[in-house]
Formats: sequence, structure tokens, C-alpha cells
Amino acid sequence: MPTTSAPEIELPPDAATAADHRNPRRRRRETEEPTPEVGILVQPEPRHHLDKLILHPEVKRDIHAGLRALEIRADQERIWNLSAIQPQQGRCILNFYGPPGTGKTRAALGIALRLSKPLYQIDYSAVISKYLGDTAKHIALAFKQAREQDAVLFFDEADSLLSKRVATGESCSTSINQNRNCLMQELDRFDGVVIVTTNLFENYDPALLRRIQRHIKFRLPDASMRRELFALHLPNPDRVKADYATLAALSRGLSGGDILNVCLNAIHAGSVDADPAKWRVTQELLEQEIRKVKQAKSEHTGQTGKKRRRIGFSS
Ligand SMILES: Nc1ncnc2c1ncn2[C@@H]1O[C@H](COP(=O)(O)OP(=O)(O)O)[C@@H](O)[C@H]1O
Ligand SMILES: [Mg+2]
Repeated sequence: MPTTSAPEIELPPDAATAADHRNPRRRRRETEEPTPEVGILVQPEPRHHLDKLILHPEVKRDIHAGLRALEIRADQERIWNLSAIQPQQGRCILNFYGPPGTGKTRAALGIALRLSKPLYQIDYSAVISKYLGDTAKHIALAFKQAREQDAVLFFDEADSLLSKRVATGESCSTSINQNRNCLMQELDRFDGVVIVTTNLFENYDPALLRRIQRHIKFRLPDASMRRELFALHLPNPDRVKADYATLAALSRGLSGGDILNVCLNAIHAGSVDADPAKWRVTQELLEQEIRKVKQAKSEHTGQTGKKRRRIGFSS
């Protein structure tokens, strides 16, 4: 019985694999189409050090406990034989949740810095495709790239990809299931650190929830933390004339991200003189910017409230 038959079509000169011999067009297509970019590799910098974050004590404790668990993994395996009860014992999924601007993304960078690894940040707009089967392919590719780069895999603001109703351009339920299964399989095969962040994780797929080792809740800063946040975000104190205690009291309800914006806007407002020697940030400028941010936030909350009520009536 003949085992092979001569190919009927002419092979490209660089056809190397058996698959190429069976289908010479395949290799041509692969060389023509570049691999899509489905994530961004971010190198953490010294300024992302965890010590530079102003966090509630319990959040700091949880982060350090998570880091310690990662650092002692090899010893734990040796002593406890963990892989006997937890097959993907190399993998660790951390979930950072809480209001926007509380330092979740920064903490992920801090962890990557501490682990001396880059962060592979998934780009949802590139992963999610309206073409049948492409989203699952992109998910697999993201994991492959993170593995190749030995990176911490980072799903920032993950709700769109990780919720029960996995957002997808593909509308049929088969492909939604396919995407979800692919994501869970890839997570199970991934032997590294995964960080997911979200403002609200009530919509997370239960299959994902089951795989998360540690949930860390980020909260808005209290008054003494806001005071520190102002000092941190006004790095040239010689040019600042401000009463930090009053700023901390006035900025109740603002996040670290809001305080960053207040400080940046006050710095811009204080740099209008043609002579940079006269640039100053004053208490008045800072208070003015606090008022603006608070007003914008309250208008935004008001709007969301209205939207919610409308949905409530119609359903
Ligand atoms: N806890 C914090 N400590 C120090 N700076 C903070 C903190 N939270 C927020 N910031 C500032 O706000 C910016 C945005 O924070 P980010 O980590 O993106 O928030 P989140 O991911 O929770 O929305 C940071 O780059 C930092 O300047
Ligand atoms: Mg973020």
C-alpha cells in the first residue's frame, strides 16, 4: 500500500512542515498575514514601586500576602506537594476591585516590578472580533505571547471580557461559549501570575470566580491618605503654598486619580506667567480645581442615577 502520493500542486521553495506539504497555501497565508497584536507589553518603572502607593493598611497587607504566596511557591510545592491537590499550582489569579482611581492599575505595575517581570496588558479592542472564531484565536494568542515574554498577564478593567455575558462581536451563543471555554482553558494552562482589575465584579463569570485565588478590595482614601496624596502629587513643595489639612478635608469623596487631576490642573493654572520663575501653585488654585472635579463627579453620578431609573421603568 503506498504511504504517500506525490503532491499535485507545486510546493513553495520554503515549504518546510508536513502541514505545508499538505496545504502549501497555508504557509503563504501565514507569511503574508502578520500576527495580530492583542496586547501591549508594559515595562514597570521604579516610580511604580509598591511603596509609593498610599493604601489602606488591609489592602497593603493583602497585596503583601499575595506576593509572599507567589514568592514561596517553590518551597510550598516541596513541603506540601500542592500540585497533588491543585493541578495548576503555578498559576495565581489576583482580582483588584473597587472604585476608579484608587490605584488598582498602579498596584498591578508595582507587583510586576517586584516580580521583575513585564506586564502583558490585554487590548480588548484587538482581542474581540466580529469574525467567527477569531476572538477565541486572539485569546489563545494573548496567553501565548504573555508566556513567551514571561510576563504577568494583565486584564485591566476586565468586565468586558470576563463577564457572564462575554462581550463579543460574534452574536451567536455558540461562539460566546467557545470564547468562554477558550479563556478558561487558557487560564488553566497558564503557569504564571494573572491580575484582573474591575470597578464592579458582580458580572464576572462564575467559572472565572472559582479560579481567582485572592480578591483585594481598593477603597477611596480617608482624610489622612488624601493629605499624603496631595503631597505626593505636588512634587516640588518649594513652589506650593497650600494648607494640606484643609485640602484633605475639602477633597472628601475624591480618589487618588481625582487628586492627581486636581494637582495637574492646578499646576497648569499656576504656570501661565511668561516667566517660569513666577510659577506657583496656591491654595486658591487647588481649592478651585477640587470644586471642579467634585462638580463633574456629582453631575456624572446624577446622570447615571437617571439612566438607571429609566431602565427600571421600561423593564
Ligand atoms: N492609592 C494610590 N496611591 C498613590 N497614587 C494613587 C493611588 N490611587 C491613584 N493614584 C494616582 O492616580 C493615578 C491613577 O490610578 P490608577 O491606578 O489608574 O487607578 P485605578 O486603576 O484604580 O482606576 C495613578 O497613576 C496615581 O497617580
Ligand atoms: Mg485602572
